[in-house]
Amino acid sequence: MLATKFIHFINQQIQTIGFANHQDEAQKIFEHITGLKINQALFSNKEFDEIEANKIIAQRKSGIPLAYILGYQYFFGYKFLVNKHVLIPRCDSEILVHNAIINCKGGERVLDLGTGSGCLGISIAKNIELSKLVLVDIDNNALEISAKNANYLQVKADFLQQDMLNIKNNVEIIENCDILISNPPYIDKKTFNNLERQVKDYEPQKALTDGNNGLLFYKAIINSILLCQNKPRLILLEIGFNQATNVLKIAGLLNNYSSNIIDDMGGRNRVLILKKHD
Ligand SMILES: C[S@@+](CC[C@H](N)C(=O)[O-])C[C@H]1O[C@@H](n2cnc3c(N)ncnc32)[C@H](O)[C@@H]1O
Repeated sequence: MLATKFIHFINQQIQTIGFANHQDEAQKIFEHITGLKINQALFSNKEFDEIEANKIIAQRKSGIPLAYILGYQYFFGYKFLVNKHVLIPRCDSEILVHNAIINCKGGERVLDLGTGSGCLGISIAKNIELSKLVLVDIDNNALEISAKNANYLQVKADFLQQDMLNIKNNVEIIENCDILISNPPYIDKKTFNNLERQVKDYEPQKALTDGNNGLLFYKAIINSILLCQNKPRLILLEIGFNQATNVLKIAGLLNNYSSNIIDDMGGRNRVLILKKHD
C-alpha cells in the first residue's frame, strides 16, 4: 500500500489498542519500518506491505512498550538503545540534562548515579566537553547497554557497578566529581503498585521504585556527600512531582549549597539543583 494508506492503517490498528499517544506511536512505527519521515513519505510512490507492521502491532497489543519492541528511544535528539534491563528514557528527564549543560563550565568531571541506558550523562557529554564521565549502576546488564550507547554515540566514559545505597562506597566516586547527577528510583511502593501495566510489568522494578517511601536514594546520596571532604560543585537530582518538600528537607542537611527547583513543561516540580557557594 502507498504511504498515506500505510500510515492510516498503522494509526487505526494502534488506536484500537487504546493507548494514549497512538498518533505518536503510529508515526514511530511508520518511520521505523520505512526509514522515511512522514513528510518525505507522502511524496513517495513506494509501496509498503503490512507484514512488519502487523508483527510490531501484535507485540504492542500484548502490552510490550514500543521502545522495547523497536530497541531504541530518542532522548535529547540522540538515539539510545534500550532493552528490558533499562528504564525507557523519558522526555521529562531532558530538563535535568538541559540544566546540567547550561550550568557546566566545561572540562569538569560528571558522575551519573543510576545511569540505566546512560541517557543523562551521555547527552551531557555530547553537548559539553567533560574531563571525565562516570556512569554507575547496580545492574551489569544496564551498564552493558550504557556502554553500547556511549560507544555508538562516541562518548568516552567509565562504567562502574556499584550500589549507591552503600553510602561509604559512594564517597570515593563522589569526591572525584564536580557535577553529580541522578535520576534515582523514586516511586514509592504504593504508587508503584498502581502504575499502568505497560510500565509495571515491563520496565525494571529496580529502576522505578525503592520499595519504600520513594526517598531512600535521595537520603543515601545526600548522606554520602556529607561524608565527602571534596563535595561536588553542582548536584542535579530528578524528583517526583510531589517530592520537592521532602527532598529539600533531606538536601537541607548540606551546608553551603543553594537550592532551586525546576519545573517540567506541565508546571510540575521535576529537578532539584544544588549549587555549592564559592
Ligand atoms: C529511574 S532509573 C534512571 C535511568 C536513567 N538514568 C534515566 O534517567 O533514564 C534508575 C536506575 O538506577 C539503577 N539502580 C537501582 N538501584 C540502584 C542501586 N542501589 N545502586 C545503583 N543503581 C541503582 C537502576 O538499575 C536504574 O538503571
